[in-house]
Amino acid sequence: MTLDPNAPRFRVRPPANWVNDPNGPFRWRDRYHLFYQYNPAAPVHADIHWGHASSRDLARWEHHPIALTPTPGGPDEAGCWSGCVVDDDGVPTAVYTGIDRDHTGLGAICLARAADPDDPALTEWKPLPTPVVSGPPAGLDVVMFRDPFVFRHAGRRWALVGAGHADGTPSVLLYDCDDLADWRFAGVLLDGNDPVAMDAFGDKAVGWECPQLLVTPGGDWVLVVSLWDGDPWTTGYLTGALEPAADGSPAFRPRVGGRLDHGRDFYAPAVLQEPDRALMWGWSWESRTEQSGWAGVLTAPRVVDVHADGTLRVAPAPELDLLRAPEPFVTGPGEGTRLPDAYDLTVTARTVTTVRLGEGLTLRVDPAEGSLTVRRTGHPEPVTVPLPHDGEPTVRVLVDGSLYEVFAGDRGMVTARVYREPGDAPELAVTGAEATVVGWALVPPALN
Ligand code: FRU
Repeated sequence: MTLDPNAPRFRVRPPANWVNDPNGPFRWRDRYHLFYQYNPAAPVHADIHWGHASSRDLARWEHHPIALTPTPGGPDEAGCWSGCVVDDDGVPTAVYTGIDRDHTGLGAICLARAADPDDPALTEWKPLPTPVVSGPPAGLDVVMFRDPFVFRHAGRRWALVGAGHADGTPSVLLYDCDDLADWRFAGVLLDGNDPVAMDAFGDKAVGWECPQLLVTPGGDWVLVVSLWDGDPWTTGYLTGALEPAADGSPAFRPRVGGRLDHGRDFYAPAVLQEPDRALMWGWSWESRTEQSGWAGVLTAPRVVDVHADGTLRVAPAPELDLLRAPEPFVTGPGEGTRLPDAYDLTVTARTVTTVRLGEGLTLRVDPAEGSLTVRRTGHPEPVTVPLPHDGEPTVRVLVDGSLYEVFAGDRGMVTARVYREPGDAPELAVTGAEATVVGWALVPPALN
């Protein structure tokens, strides 16, 4: 069997069939667990289960049996949609969206508990038969309701739920769930009419899916939403403060906002809050129409923080360096070097530099202007993102099969899918007198 050169081999993805959102990234004892929306039967979005993988080092992933399966006659019989995983008094607990047979877009919030918290693989999960929230709160004309995200603030547990209202306003709803078995609606955390949100996202989205909240080591809060305009559109962030309101519930005061990922192929990111950092994975969908036996992949983990000006700081997780081959395949301009199927490449540019990664993708770095332009062959609209004005900006590209993740310094990211024909042998081409290019093929890390 020949390997499909477009199939990512290092990022989390089951060998076949459908994947969408990452769900419930969770650290339990010495392992990271990552779940994902999964149709085990076909490479299309239907009959969604939760797939499951885990890793000790964020570089090498091990696949586990399916964690959540729709229960016939249960509140999730038409799908176990997105959600999170929390430690509920020593028991890993999935908090997820149950879709019933009427499938109206209004989910129920369901729980499933790990059958054996001492099993390092957390193999078996037991769904509770009754949802903790059976549908949206009354009186708000909610027409989209899904994707619970549980977080802690001021010593209590709260949850966000993604929503859309009948008049086309998207929002994030807030619940008090300090007792995970007893949820109480606590108001609208934020909606699309907020001036900072309006300025950052416009008014195209009619629903905010998969809300996520994180706090940085410096104490900034970041709200991430997936902007749904009837279909998945793009992702956005707002940074600001989370303060207790008069009634003690958290109130989010956004300061700055923008697009989270500037590529066209990134959606529904999920966040893992660690004590000293926040990690994020996204879903990258297929951007070609031809079918193969698999569809979708999760991105590499990214560390999310906030710059002093309130904009987002993003960088690949340092653990990804474990995947680099001991020796680089290119150092210097590297004209004509054959590119491997999976690699990690950095470009440091002192003058205008163009880097062509095979036929499919070209990067143009302009240090004086402080910009990176990403152009995909066959797509007329290039994407331009700001680069730090520090004289020698570095652009990093993580390539795994058809998944390209481009980082403009620590200021912007562009996720794009670039496919090649069987037999293509992509080569590196660099123009620009003063650029340093260093690339490493990705290899499975040695076992430790
Ligand atoms: C985002 C999303 C979520 C939903 C899930 C269903 O891509 O639409 O809102 O829970 O996917 O698979």
